[in-house]
Amino acid sequence: MKRIAVLTSGGDAPGMNAAIRAVVRRALYDGVEVYGIDRGFQGLLEGRLKPMTLGSVGDIVHRGGTILQTARSEAFKTEAGQEAAVGVLREHAIGGLVVIGGDGSLRGAEALHRRGIAVVGIPASIDNDIAGTDESIGFDTAINTVAWAIDKIRDTATSHERTFVVEVMGRRSGHIALWAGLAVGAEAIIVPEVPFDLDAIARRLIQTKERGKRHSILIVAEGVMSGAALAKEIERRTGFETRASVLGHIQRGGTPSARDRLLAGRLGSRAVERLLAGQSGIMVGIRGEAIVDVPLADVFRGEKPLMASLIELARMLSI
Ligand code: F6P
Repeated sequence: MKRIAVLTSGGDAPGMNAAIRAVVRRALYDGVEVYGIDRGFQGLLEGRLKPMTLGSVGDIVHRGGTILQTARSEAFKTEAGQEAAVGVLREHAIGGLVVIGGDGSLRGAEALHRRGIAVVGIPASIDNDIAGTDESIGFDTAINTVAWAIDKIRDTATSHERTFVVEVMGRRSGHIALWAGLAVGAEAIIVPEVPFDLDAIARRLIQTKERGKRHSILIVAEGVMSGAALAKEIERRTGFETRASVLGHIQRGGTPSARDRLLAGRLGSRAVERLLAGQSGIMVGIRGEAIVDVPLADVFRGEKPLMASLIELARMLSI
């Protein structure tokens, strides 16, 4: 294989740049040319390909966002769009493609694989909802950002003796809420995967206040309900002054953590190695300390469950 290409797609995630850097540097190390595709699959359809050099990935390992830009493409979801994308890749003599992104982007990767393009996916999403890998790039930074923000909210919550409901991202999953909630010692963590009882939560908040606690923090994953709606329900049941805070896109930006950069470096390098070894239709991921290859078909077989031991821990510690 003489030439490969790399793109980022879907919602951006801190650490995507470190992954691009690793793909480019590993390919050049192995004597293979690399093209960068701007604006994800949409940019591919528009022929936005450019040669990448060591210089084009300099000074980016620590930057959030993605230097290749990203997009969600409706045109690429169609049969005609995917055929056109194959045409563009062949026209540019691209022998293999690395797709960095979340669930939707990896589905796009699989579509190209089925059409005969050699493709390897790298999981990157703050949501950590991609099956087959313990972690996706961006998740560690996102939960650190949530913890940082909630530590600040806690100061004002204590001063005013208020209850706060903090709404976090995660799409349909509760990974961000659960991990960050444990990290900040939230009084309640409400996620789509676990049934909850608002009356019981309200009773617990009242008992906590009676014990002398001056504030309470509840975390709700966006896939359950809005923070504002939950705050109203809690205020109605407890009579406590309750505020909602929606953290929003702050969770997607910022300097990637060392852990995310390292993961990105390992996955980026492995993706190139696998492509050059003739593999396709796989995602590279991490399980425990090991970097693994996962068939894309397995990635889409089911939802990624929350860690049962963390759910149990949250139940035991939020008394
Ligand atoms: O998948 C990442 C994510 O940030 C989700 O947590 C969130 O639901 C969604 O993207 C928001 O998408 P957009 O930036 O298009 O509003």
